[in-house]
Formats: sequence, structure tokens, C-alpha cells
Amino acid sequence: MSKSRVTAEGGMATSYGFTPVDEGEKQQLVNDVFHRVAKRYDVMNDVMSGGLHRAWKDAMVAALNPPRKPGWRFLDVAGGTGDVAFRIVEASSRQASGVVLDINGSMLAVGAERAGKRRLADNLEFVEANAENLPFPDNSFDAYTIAFGIRNVPDIDKALAEASRVLRRGGRFLCLEFSEVQMPILDKVYEAWSFHGIPRLGQAIAGDGEPYRYLVESIRKFPSQPDFAAMIRRAGFARVGWTDYTGGIAALHSGWKI
Ligand SMILES: C[S@@+](CC[C@H](N)C(=O)[O-])C[C@H]1O[C@@H](n2cnc3c(N)ncnc32)[C@H](O)[C@@H]1O
Repeated sequence: MSKSRVTAEGGMATSYGFTPVDEGEKQQLVNDVFHRVAKRYDVMNDVMSGGLHRAWKDAMVAALNPPRKPGWRFLDVAGGTGDVAFRIVEASSRQASGVVLDINGSMLAVGAERAGKRRLADNLEFVEANAENLPFPDNSFDAYTIAFGIRNVPDIDKALAEASRVLRRGGRFLCLEFSEVQMPILDKVYEAWSFHGIPRLGQAIAGDGEPYRYLVESIRKFPSQPDFAAMIRRAGFARVGWTDYTGGIAALHSGWKI
């Protein structure tokens, strides 16, 4: 286990990366980060992960395996610039429809423009809202996805309760998130890359290292795979499990509403 990781689920609401903040302050700071990076977000994602985020998102959507028939609806929370939602629609042979929900209008604006260019606008709605208070009735969706989003949400338990509420019975919950590296040598390399490489690249390419420092620190604060699985179970999901990607740099957690 990396020394800097905080494994207890408490504390995420009152920490901005490694910096303690007042409850309520975290969301504003997170929003500032994504307003600042929105236009460069997709390029920086590729640079920072060496393109790996694409393979992880492909694997997430393969695990979801959306049906190729109309009427199936998904909600992609913290959907940002649309990467996961686009993949889901394509995997359903453009039959699925869904909502890309994000608290940040700058990220959604980039996503909506990309959707238009890909001719996916008819399948997708872009909604600005908070994962902790979803503006949808109970039992509205067949699937709930969230990729690299949940660690930014101050009250994770509240977001999980909302996920369970808006899913239909039999609905699938899938969460892709940076996680705890399980291989000692990879852990060392990843640590060096994260704390030195990524903020410097952010500074060099995007002209601003600070948002990338937050991203790295917030990854270290996020609960380990078993601790996060326990939180998902406590929210009422069944058959909860996870799959590590790239030695645990990322993990896909899965559960079902029954
Ligand atoms: C790292 S980006 C991930 C974007 C996209 N899912 C992806 O994988 O490329 C994190 C996103 O979480 C969003 N976010 C942060 N807090 C949120 C909240 N409370 N509710 C909804 N979205 C939130 C941010 O605005 C940002 O777009």
C-alpha cells in the first residue's frame, strides 16, 4: 500500500488533494480546476496517461455491454467532455440514449461540441447538475456510469445513494477510478511520474501545474479497492466487485441494483 494513501472513506469532503479545506469549500475548488482545464482536458488526458485512459474506458464499456436495441437508457455522471457516453452509444450501434451529467458547464460545453461533430447529438442530452442531487425521478435509468469522477465529489456516500435511487431494478452501476497500485515496482514508477512528471507536464503544456497537482493528490486520497467496494455495498448494491486495470493504476467497480 502506498504510504500517502488514506484508506478510510471519511475525509474526502474536507480535503482538496492533500490540503485540508472546510466542508463545502472542496466543490468550488474542484470546479475551478475543471473550468481551467476544460479546453485542454482531452489532450492532457492522453499525455498524462500515455493514452491508457482510452483502453480503460473501452474496457469499461465492454463490461457494460449495452444492448443493440432502442429504449435502453444510461446516465454518465461526471461525464465531462463525453468520452464514456460516446463509447456507450457507439457500442450499442447508436441505439442507446443517455444523459451526460456534470457539475461543470465548461466541460459539458466541450462535450456537446464533440457530440455534434460526431453526429451523436440525437442520442445524448447534456445536463449541468451535482452527482449528490440528481435531477431525475427514481428508477429512471438502465445503467449508471462514472469515470474518474467520484473522487472529485465531496460526499461520495450521497452520490452512491443517488446512483441507487435513479437506477431501475436490474440496473448496473459501473465506476472507473484511479486506484491503489498492486505491484511494488510499478508503484514506485507511478509515484515518481505522478508527483513530478504530471504537474511539470501540466505546467509545460497547459501553462498551469496546479490543477494537475490536485488531480494527483486526489488520487492518493481515494479509498482502496476493498474500501470503496464496501461503500458501494453500503449504498445497497448487490454483487459488488472490481477489476484492476494496469496493475491497479485504475479499477472498475461494479454493482447491481436488485
Ligand atoms: C477527471 S474529469 C472526468 C471526465 C470524464 N468522465 C472522463 O473520464 O473523461 C472529472 C469530472 O467530474 C466533474 N465533477 C466534479 N464534481 C462533480 C459533482 N459533484 N457532480 C458532478 N460532476 C462533478 C468535473 O466537473 C469533471 O468534469
